[in-house]
Parts: sequence; C-alpha cells; structure tokens
Amino acid sequence: MTLLDGKKTSEAIQDEIAAEVTALKADGSKIPHLAAILVGNDGGSVTYVNNKVLACERVGFVSSLFHYEDTITEEDLLNKIKELNEDEEVDGFIVQLPLPKHIDTEKVLEAVDPKKDVDGFHPINVGRMVAGLPAYLPATPAGILQLLQRYEIETFGKHCVVVGRSNIVGSPMSILMSKNASPGNCTVTLCHRYTQDLAYHTRQADIVIVAVGIPGLITEDMVKEGAVVIDVGTTRVPDASRKSGFRLRGDVDFDAVAPKCSYITPVPGGVGPLTIAMLLKNTLSASKKEVY
Ligand code: GUN
Repeated sequence: MTLLDGKKTSEAIQDEIAAEVTALKADGSKIPHLAAILVGNDGGSVTYVNNKVLACERVGFVSSLFHYEDTITEEDLLNKIKELNEDEEVDGFIVQLPLPKHIDTEKVLEAVDPKKDVDGFHPINVGRMVAGLPAYLPATPAGILQLLQRYEIETFGKHCVVVGRSNIVGSPMSILMSKNASPGNCTVTLCHRYTQDLAYHTRQADIVIVAVGIPGLITEDMVKEGAVVIDVGTTRVPDASRKSGFRLRGDVDFDAVAPKCSYITPVPGGVGPLTIAMLLKNTLSASKKEVY
C-alpha cells in the first residue's frame, strides 16, 4: 500500500508556482493577486480561508481578505463582488462557501466574473468544463487529478466510483474522470444518498473517490483488494486530547481499509492540501490570462 502524500504533492506544486512568481518579479510583470470573501465565523471556513491567504504569501502572491459578519445583506455582498470584478489589480477571487441561509448562493456565484472565478463554480466555467473547453477547474477535483497524475496511477479504462454528488467535488469529479484525458477515460459510477446498496457499487471500483462528509462511511468490506481510495471527507470530530478540541476524520475507515488498497489518501494530509495548491494554480492562470 502506498500513501498518497497530499502535503508533499501540494508543496511541490507550490514550489513550482513560487518559481514562476520569482520569474514574473524578475521581469517586472504583475504579481498574481487572489482575493477572498468570507462571511461569518464558521470555524472550518475561517481556517480554510486563512490557509488560502497564508499560501498566497508563501508563493509570493498578493492577497486580500474581506471578512464580513453573517448579517451582511445579499445586496452588499453582490456590490462587493461587482467591485472585485471591476478591480484590475485582482486577478481572481473566491467567495468561501457555505453562505448564510438568507443569501442566495446561486445568485452570488453567478455574479462573479467567469474570468475571475478561480474556484470554477460559475455555471459558465462548469459548462465549459463539461464541454471540454478551457475553464477554471474546481480546486478539489483538480487536486485529485494532480495526485493521480503525479503518482502515475493508471486510470485508462478503469471503473471509478464517486460517492457524493456535490457541485464542489462529486459532480465535477465524476465528469472529469469520464473525460477522454489523462487522468480520465474511466467508466464512472456516481453514487449518492439515495443509492441502493452502496457497498455493491464501491466493491466494483478500481478507484473509489468519496466526498460526503460522513466519517467512516467506507468500511473494509466495501472496498476491492488493490483499489485506489481517495478520501475527501474532513469532518471535525471532538477530541479532548487536542488543543483545538477536535480532529479531522475522513469518510473512509482508514485503519481497516488501508491494508487492502494499492493507494490511499490519509486525512488530514491527503486531498485537503491540494485544494489550496490548485486554487493558487488557477490564480496564476488567471493572471497569465491562460484560460480566457
Ligand atoms: N467550501 C468548501 N470547499 C470550498 C472551496 O473549494 N471553495 C470555496 N469558495 N468554498 C468552499
């Protein structure tokens, strides 16, 4: 069994980005600038956004963080988005999800200029991805493709079972794995909360990608010998022995499943760190006008 080291892979990608930024600085070009909008104080979201800002500093990007109370009106949020769309200094920006209930997430995501949508959440970028046109790919699925590619895991003709159909991970992941690309060219099964006999499907899989947020959902009996298992789950569970009071748990029962796998991602240190690296990569592409 080989552990897929997301931290190491993320650091390698960030080193490549930092080298490009050094070259941009040397010839006096504009330095990539990522902005982030955070609404409210959800612990997970605050940590993720702070990590994104820190990662910008690490690779030499400019970053801006706009942090609002969860009482911000939809109108004020849309005005801020309009301002960032028009700000020529900002190459790309993200609105951290989830948003409070009184704000229409679809409306917010559609307000972002697709050219600056480095999360790849705008319907235009989603549609372009489906059609195989140049687009910003959502960071977590793109990070999983990088892991598969950099560990030289064969996907051609394999059966990939994706568990979870979210707009952020499961749905785009299923589409990307089915594309005529490398990694890709899989036969894909997309499972979700109403799938009957989930274990029947996951047991057929050469590659299992799980993104549902149910700790330990995937047990040893649900995985074929030699499978590749990618765990996107990062649920905070109470842990009194930690200073933070919690630890992260994946959707896979790692200790029981790992011995059966050819490759598996740990939680933490698997897919999570790659999401940030790919967001930076999209921002670099935005600043170089590589997509649009
Ligand atoms: N919430 C969970 N994952 C993400 C992500 O990749 N981007 C944003 N903006 N919000 C998220």
